[in-house]
Amino acid sequence: MIKNICCIGAGYVGGPTMAVIAQKCPHIKVTVVDLNQDRINAWNNEDLSLLPIYEPGLDAVVGEARGRNLFFSTEVDKAIDEADAIFISVNTPTKTYGVGKGMAADLKYIELCARQIARVAKNDKIVIEKSTLPVRTAQAIKDILDHTGNGVNFQILSNPEFLAEGTAIEDLFAPDRVLIGGDTTPDGQVAINKLVEVYANWVKRDNILTTNVWSSELSKLTANAFLAQRVSSINAMSELCEKTGADVNEVAKAIGLDSRIGSKFLKSSVGFGGSCFQKDILNLVYIAKSYGLNEVADYWEQVIIMNDHQKRRFSKNIISTLYNTVSGKKIAFLGWAFKKDTNDTRESAAIYVANDLISEQANVAVFDPKVEADQIHFDLNYLESRTDAENKKYISIENNGYDACKNAHAIAVLTEWDEFKTYDWQKIYDNMLKPAFVFDGRNLLNKAELEKIGFIYQAIGS
Ligand code: UDX
Ligand code: UDX
Ligand code: ADP
Repeated sequence: MIKNICCIGAGYVGGPTMAVIAQKCPHIKVTVVDLNQDRINAWNNEDLSLLPIYEPGLDAVVGEARGRNLFFSTEVDKAIDEADAIFISVNTPTKTYGVGKGMAADLKYIELCARQIARVAKNDKIVIEKSTLPVRTAQAIKDILDHTGNGVNFQILSNPEFLAEGTAIEDLFAPDRVLIGGDTTPDGQVAINKLVEVYANWVKRDNILTTNVWSSELSKLTANAFLAQRVSSINAMSELCEKTGADVNEVAKAIGLDSRIGSKFLKSSVGFGGSCFQKDILNLVYIAKSYGLNEVADYWEQVIIMNDHQKRRFSKNIISTLYNTVSGKKIAFLGWAFKKDTNDTRESAAIYVANDLISEQANVAVFDPKVEADQIHFDLNYLESRTDAENKKYISIENNGYDACKNAHAIAVLTEWDEFKTYDWQKIYDNMLKPAFVFDGRNLLNKAELEKIGFIYQAIGS
């Protein structure tokens, strides 16, 4: 039986997942470790509103379990030593150098973890891949553990996480399924069953699916590729809708009622973001190419090409609608996070749209309810389009939506935060330059209401 869990990586995946395991399994001690001292300090903050990541409901879960059987620490070796099961939940960004640059997943953090586990472990351990990894990574982890370890036995499991940010706690409480992949050997099956027992504390056994390791690894990439493909598919239709007089919301509703298609994940937008979709598809494309499967690779790559086009199309439309120049004009951004109810900005469409507009010398004023100013500066600088000082000349960060919109030529809605719907839009209109434009990248606002006030309102796909 698993009694002591260590999770390496206290990020968007490791943090909430371990908090829920700890809350649901008071008999298991869960220690989440990270190299980043600031992050661990934030997880240990007395004030639960200051946890390092924002997720609805997370504060209550952490509040209940922390100090009881949930611990956050930087003592990685100690936690590894004490654990029966070790989750690897470190980041696997797209490589920015060398072979596979811009496509393959960078596995250096995973490898470092494996080497650390091998060095420290003095008794048998189950090692669980939680981060999304390319197919056959388990083999690499196993090679390292078996060749550099202290002669103890390791079982490697793949247990990908399907939670979506913004609804992480809900998703963890009631997952559509839990997927556990392991070796088909008797020892592998024993390890799988031990992990099944952990989840069975709150997930119905019928919803816990066990497979071989490779199926589990590939299922995670496939799920994200299919989800992203739906967004790119509806976004492709949005452009056609704009030309033909069809309305993408009506089209989405009509097709979604076909039970073979289903109604979820058909929301047209300025483009998908987040740490997973693009990275995982690029990864899939890279893997397919490495096996010489060029048609497979090209097929999936189109999902990314379409998404890049959708982001670019949004900024181009702002520029052309504002009489082909945004130079010196103030454009207010409502939202910077890649979706609502998260402070995560990785791959957010807002970053790319801002970059395009700043290239045209626009002044971008951003308000996001949860994203810190430093993060916004970091995101723009990360693109390396211009220096930090130059970026700061063009971007300002406001504490509320009304200030961001004051004296603006146009508003762009980049994230679908609920609070934007309840703004006093008459007041916003009165404080803007005229004609006052709204470019709604999330089809969030009420077109009729805004047009009645006097806005020129443009949504996606109508
Ligand atoms: C299709 C649409 O389903 C229907 O709504 C529309 O009105 C007409 O076109 P149809 O072509 O008759 O209907 O059959 P369908 O069941 O959609 O199958 C089309 C093809 O896809 C078949 O060759 C089928 O074998 C194949 N298919 C379908 C698969 O290979 N895999 C699947 O999972 C589903
Ligand atoms: C995704 C998967 O959903 C999750 O299962 C996996 O574990 C991690 O990757 P996440 O990236 O957190 O989760 O959020 P998700 O809700 O999938 O949204 C991703 C992006 O797609 C967001 O930018 C979102 O705004 C966009 N999106 C989603 C749309 O534009 N339209 C939609 O209909 C759905
Ligand atoms: P994800 O969205 O996958 O959770 P994050 O970047 O939010 O990704 O979190 C990953 C965390 O893993 C980071 O906080 C990082 O500091 C941590 N990390 C990376 N490598 C190691 C390591 N070798 N040991 C401990 N923590 C690590």
